[in-house]
Order: sequence, then structure tokens, then C-alpha cells
Amino acid sequence: MFVWITVRYSTAFSPATTRAYTKLTTCLASSNGRISNAIQDKSLLDKTNTDETRRVVSEKLDTNPPKGTRDFYPEDMRLRNWLFDQWRDTARISGFVEYDAPVLESEALYTRKAGEEVTQQLYNFVDKGERAVTLRPEMTPSLARMVMAKKGALPLPFKWFSIPQCWRYERMTRGRRREHFQWNMDIWGVAGEEAEAELIAAMVSFFEGVGLTSEDVGIKVNSRLVIGEVLNELGIPPEKFAATCVLVDKLEKVPVDAIQGELEELGLDRSVVEKLLNVLTNKSIESLRDTLGADSKAVLQLEKFMSLCDAYGIQDWIILDASVVRGLAYYTGIVFEAFDRKGQLRAIAGGGRYDKLLETFGGDSIPAAGFGFGDAVIVELLKERNILPSFEESGIDTVVFAMNEKLFPAAIHAAAALRKAGQSVDLILEAKKSKWVFKHADRLGAKYCLIVGESEYENGEVAVKDLKLGEQVNVKIEELGSWATSQ
Ligand code: HAM
Repeated sequence: MFVWITVRYSTAFSPATTRAYTKLTTCLASSNGRISNAIQDKSLLDKTNTDETRRVVSEKLDTNPPKGTRDFYPEDMRLRNWLFDQWRDTARISGFVEYDAPVLESEALYTRKAGEEVTQQLYNFVDKGERAVTLRPEMTPSLARMVMAKKGALPLPFKWFSIPQCWRYERMTRGRRREHFQWNMDIWGVAGEEAEAELIAAMVSFFEGVGLTSEDVGIKVNSRLVIGEVLNELGIPPEKFAATCVLVDKLEKVPVDAIQGELEELGLDRSVVEKLLNVLTNKSIESLRDTLGADSKAVLQLEKFMSLCDAYGIQDWIILDASVVRGLAYYTGIVFEAFDRKGQLRAIAGGGRYDKLLETFGGDSIPAAGFGFGDAVIVELLKERNILPSFEESGIDTVVFAMNEKLFPAAIHAAAALRKAGQSVDLILEAKKSKWVFKHADRLGAKYCLIVGESEYENGEVAVKDLKLGEQVNVKIEELGSWATSQ
């Protein structure tokens, strides 16, 4: 008989807990209930206050993850990995290389003073070394820090990508949560609009790769030079540019009256705001040209960008929209946002040029552009369009099991041969009835079940059942490797 014995310690009586309690009670006893010197030793208290002892006295655990965060069970993980693979493949075919940075950053990296929402949504705290730190809300400042750390030693231009988890203490709405993964694609060292066009072309190739078309998704494009030109004409000094852009972005979401105080603080009167809002209503390059003049730098820049998009063949995806300003302070030129054409979801992705970000950190400016693309809205959109693949199947090729305990070593050898040939193999580790094994294989979506049975084994063979076709064949044990590679 194949008998499996599971020894379970109750949490309260596991050896570590028992040792901790023995030490604690001995100390208390020898001091008539007072805490002895040994106990006053904080390190001993820490040792006794293990997770296990805490659990003994605590309430039943709330099994929900913290609000706004997610658990990834295997099926969710398959979806996440699939999405990351699409992002990685797109980045690779476009010549971007991967980098990473810590999820914990210095808070100073984000304390910009332009009134951006993101700086008010930090998951920040003071660590044990009295340092003000925060979980990163976005990747761009980390990337800038990494570039600055190399002090000009990085060969430019470069094209880098990353898939960081980002943390923002946001109000939760559809497509916005408190943690998300964000595909970042950035090009540093290219001053021309060729960088933005290359970035957007890569984004489009991702959309096409997952089965979306320009009828599903549009990419709204504008340039912050538009606002710059209006402010310049009205005599507003350049120092107010970044904060004005952030406020104008807010104006897209709230009425002017709601941010009247902030406008006054910036010294912008209603007439400036009205002029800005008026310019931002332009929805075509022609009307923008009529408003700003044919020799406007903003217009020339956008015209060049559009002609590059034509060359990439992505013009159907692009929509000029002067109302797109973006809420981050550091953008200086072209800005863009991908959105679902039905207009039901939040922005799918967003980015732009940020040539002066390093200056704000006390470094020399380097031209840079990039985008961030979250994992939440795109999954919603793919689900809605019914083009998300199924992630129910585990990806396991073969379930291997022995009919009795004596045959288990043979099952180990069979599993090893299949694994060596590259198959994903689930070896059944306990005594189970074959009915259970087939049900289990079905639940996993496995393709084959390999059965090590007495009579086949005596002939140096095992039985392999094709679970889709329902057919069963015998395979010689020494030929299992070549059988696996032929499947
Ligand atoms: P962002 O517009 O703040 O830009 O975020 C970019 C994208 O990240 C959004 O369009 C959305 O897909 C996703 N995202 C942002 N916040 C959340 C959230 N709370 N929940 C779910 N998804 C979210 C940036 O972060 C810039 N650093 C992007 C960039 C890279 N610019 C240049 N390079």
C-alpha cells in the first residue's frame, strides 16, 4: 500500500512556538511574574514575539489583500505573464532593452512643486534610519536618477523598457487601483520627434499584436509648445509653464471655479484661462495652424510628427487633440494618450517628451521621451472585445502517476525523462485512485496522462493516454525522451 503520512503541528504547538513559550514562562517563573532582566532584553522579546505566537492571540486573519491591491492566483498570474510577454516581445522587436530599479525610492525624487496629483498620492513613510522613502508611484524619476548616476557615461541615445509595479494612493475607480504594473518605454538622447513617433509605433504594434485595431483604440496627440506659445504671447513667465500645464490638465476634469484659488496663486486671471481653453479646443492641425499661425513652432513640430506617423503607416491611430496636456509637470513637448474609441474606459497609456527632468534634479538636461502603459485598462478592453486568450489551462503537458508505491521510483524516472525533454510534468506524489488522477489532469488541462502500471512495467513500458483524443498507447521507458520531443 502506498501510504502518505502528513504530520501537522498545530500553530500553537509547533517547535518554534513551544521553545519560545518555554523560555518566556521560565523567565516569568523565576521572577515571580515580573519581567526578568532577560525578558527586558528587547532582542529576546522580539525572538519570542514571532509570527506564530502573535497568531495564537490574534483575531482571525482578514484574508483580503490591502485595499486596492491584488492577489495573483495561478490563473491571474498566467494572464499577467501573458501580458508581460506581449510587452516584452514588442519592446524586443523595436530594439528596446530591459532595466529595473527598486520599488522603494527616496521621497525627494517626487517632491515636485507643480501641484501634481501623483505627488499627493505617495505611499510614503520614514524608515528605521529616519529616511523619507516611498513606494514608487511611477518609473520615470527612477530612470532619470539612474541616468544621472552614470554622469554622462551612458552611451546615448538609448532605448530602454521596464515593467515596474507602481503604487499610488488613488481613489479607486474602474481601471485605477492602488497598485498597478506599468510598461514603460523610453528613449533618451534623441531631440527630434522621431523618438515620439518610434515610441507610438511600438505601442501600435503591441495593440495590433493583441488583436486591437485603430477602430478600437485611438492615440490623442498634442504638444505642450501650444500652451507655451499662448503663455508667451500673454507675457506669462516661463517659470509658470509646468504648474500651468498641470492646472490646465485639471481643467479638463473639474470646473474653473473649483481651482480658482490655485489659478490665483499662479497669478493667472480668467482671461488667460479663457484664452488657453479656447486654444485647447482645436482638434485638427489645420485649425491649430489657423489659431497659432503657420510658423508656430508647435504647429511645425506636430506637422513633422504627423508626417513621421504616415511613414510608419500608423496615421489611422493618431488624433490631434489640443486638449491633451497630461497631469505630470515634467513634460515639455509632444504629449500623447491612448484611449478606447468608445470612450468608456480611463486612459490606456500616456507619455510624452520630458527634456528638462534632469535639470529639476540639478543635472544637465538630456532630451528624453517615453510612455507608461498600465495593466488594468488594457485587460478590461481585451475582455470587453472578447479577444483575451483563455488562461484556464495550467500549461502542464503530462500528469505522471504510479499505480502503487513499489512503482513510484519508476514514475520518478519517467517524469525525469519527460522533464529532460522539456515537458511540463506534474508527478503525483501521493497514493491516489486513477479516477482522481484523471479528474485532476482534466482540471489542469493536461494533454497526457502517463500511467506506470505493474504489467506494462514488467515489459519495460508505460501507458500514455492522450486526454484530448482518449487514445492510449504503450511507450518503452527508454524511449520516453524521444516520445516527448515528438509531441
Ligand atoms: P501616467 O499617465 O501617470 O504617466 O501613467 C501612465 C499609465 O499608467 C496610465 O495611462 C495608466 O495606464 C497607468 N496608470 C496610472 N495610474 C494608474 C492606477 N492608479 N491604476 C492603474 N493604472 C494606472 C506616467 O506614469 C509617466 N511616468 C509615463 C511616462 C513614461 N512618461 C514618460 N515615460
